[in-house]
Amino acid sequence: MRRTSRRDHAWLYPILSLAVAVTILLAFGLTWWHALAVTALLGCPLVILWGLIFSWSQPEAGSELAPETDGVTIEWIAPFYDRLCTLLGLGRAFRRQILEVAALKAGERVLDAGCGTGVWTRLAAEAVGSSGRVIGFDPGPRMMGIARRNAAQEGSRATFELAAVEELPFEEASFDAALLSLVLHHLPAEVKRSGLKEIGRVLRPGGRLIVVDLDRSDSVLWRIVLRPLSHVETSADAFEGKIPIYLREAGFESVTVEGRWWKSLTFWRAMKPLSSIASVETPAT
Ligand SMILES: C[S@@+](CC[C@H](N)C(=O)[O-])C[C@H]1O[C@@H](n2cnc3c(N)ncnc32)[C@H](O)[C@@H]1O
Repeated sequence: MRRTSRRDHAWLYPILSLAVAVTILLAFGLTWWHALAVTALLGCPLVILWGLIFSWSQPEAGSELAPETDGVTIEWIAPFYDRLCTLLGLGRAFRRQILEVAALKAGERVLDAGCGTGVWTRLAAEAVGSSGRVIGFDPGPRMMGIARRNAAQEGSRATFELAAVEELPFEEASFDAALLSLVLHHLPAEVKRSGLKEIGRVLRPGGRLIVVDLDRSDSVLWRIVLRPLSHVETSADAFEGKIPIYLREAGFESVTVEGRWWKSLTFWRAMKPLSSIASVETPAT
């Protein structure tokens, strides 16, 4: 079921602002006609600006229903997300390193979980070629809208769905590989657990999961820079080194560290056992 978003009421903002402006001018003793005229003169450029900003910051994912999730979506940043990533050093080189760790082969079926604007999804689609299939999903309608628009513009074969990791609309064992890049620190502990189990369900036996996320850092500088995040409920456990524990708890095996990014992010690789995934009951507390 779709939650009402602030954007649904966005059309009210300029009307309310104009009403407030007219009221203030009336309070200063202007007549109705003067108050309306002054407001229109001052308000028009603002309304135009508002319209430009909102039309520029679209698109949304059409009329599809956004899934409910307790994960933290970052819809407000979607129009600027790619630029922000580049600014933070998480541009193409970072995505290519994930690609190396994932070691995708032609013809593979790949899932990009919490794909955001789908930058890696499109790279993965190139890597698996026309015989492969890459699906990115995210619960954020605006992220999905941008991902689809960019894929269409680039002529990418990647496809995108609105979904949340805790309830996936995919068949059991339908993917060879999955990626969770910078997503786990957006999920509360329970969603991490249910989401990893869902990914285990949709991976084929022997399939691999690549996780990129925050971790304990041996760099003092990064520990200081990232300190605020270690107080956020969804990311605190990552700094305590719990991501591999969640992975094993969800039944993954052969959990290995495959690389680091600027001493702040870790790349893990984990495998779904060849025999069916049996989750370990010990919680990651
Ligand atoms: C920091 S972004 C990472 C996007 C992309 N994977 C990347 O590497 O740039 C975190 C993403 O997690 C998504 N997210 C939040 N809750 C989620 C959930 N329950 N299931 C899947 N994705 C979720 C957000 O919408 C957001 O796009």
